Amino acid sequence: MANTNKLSTSVMMTVVMVLAATAWGVTGELSMEYYYMQGCPMAEMIVRDVMSDAIMKDPTLAASILRLHFHDCFVQGCDASLLLDSTPGHKAEKDAPPNRTLRGFKVIDAIKEVLEEQCPSMVSCADILALAARDAVVMAGGPYYDVPTGRKDGFRSDAADTAALPAATLNASALVDLFVDRRGFSVEEMVALSGGHTLGVAHCANFKNRLSNFDSTSQVNRGLLTSDQTLADSPETAMFVNMFAENSDMFFYTFQQGMLKMGQLDLKEQGDVRKSCRVLN
Ligand code: HEM
Ligand SMILES: *[C@@H]1O[C@H](CO)[C@@H](O)[C@H](O)[C@H]1NC(C)=O
Ligand SMILES: *[C@@H]1O[C@H](CO)[C@@H](O)[C@H](O)[C@H]1NC(C)=O
Repeated sequence: MANTNKLSTSVMMTVVMVLAATAWGVTGELSMEYYYMQGCPMAEMIVRDVMSDAIMKDPTLAASILRLHFHDCFVQGCDASLLLDSTPGHKAEKDAPPNRTLRGFKVIDAIKEVLEEQCPSMVSCADILALAARDAVVMAGGPYYDVPTGRKDGFRSDAADTAALPAATLNASALVDLFVDRRGFSVEEMVALSGGHTLGVAHCANFKNRLSNFDSTSQVNRGLLTSDQTLADSPETAMFVNMFAENSDMFFYTFQQGMLKMGQLDLKEQGDVRKSCRVLN
């Protein structure tokens, strides 16, 4: 009986995912056909190829790239502000204290280099990061989701802006305030996105296991970050942690929805396509 329920839930979730993917052909100003229309139909494929080479050499990069996308989008929107280098006298986002463990910038440079050869000044660094993060999730055994494109690169990157990022010490109500009240995520999307941390501690071939092992409650309770432990312990979030632990289809589905939302935070109307992701044109 329980198995039948689980199976029908799983079938239902698949149907919902397909419908959602179809409905999301065009989202706001972003579109699934953006680079096709721009004359660079192979943009996504180029990102995936470079990502796949990089992750084959260093599987831990999957987590790093996902985190770069998150830090980019939460600070000044998804505009590749995180990728800009500091300049003399000006400290950029990437050199603010939470940067200590940011990695993966060289992979983004490598992707950009190939794209500049194939489609000069066409593919924004913000789109590269969004696509690369999706590919990282998939290569780590997570769910595939469509990434509509057409983001613009921003002009501002200031270390002080990283105050918008969640501190690891926040309690559940502070996390809800940041993700739900200020950013428009649902509580369950916030919990699912925090599940992105299951990538962060994996090594080599173990990614997939870690992700599918998400449905082991003991593992969830061993939350490695304070914030994850907080989500597992607090009344307003614990039920979703338990729900995802029991139903990995639901976890993947909510994670996809959360990533779609995250990839569209505060998109710039005015912007650029940088030639190098590290410096303004
Ligand atoms: C809920 C609020 C969050 C807090 C407080 C938080 C905090 C942290 C902290 C403290 C680390 C460890 C950094 C280190 O290694 O020293 C980390 C790593 C990481 N975070 Fe989060 N995070 C949050 C949400 C997210 C979200 C929404 C995502 C993406 C969906 C994400 C993706 C990652 C990844 C993938 C890593 C591992 C990076 C690597 O191994 O290179 N985090 N996070
Ligand atoms: C982080 O910031 C420090 C100093 O602010 C800087 O020396 C270092 O290169 C930065 N790390 C990355 C990965 O950008
Ligand atoms: C959570 O943290 C906030 C800000 O630090 C604090 O005001 C609030 O009382 C805390 N809530 C709980 C339930 O501990």
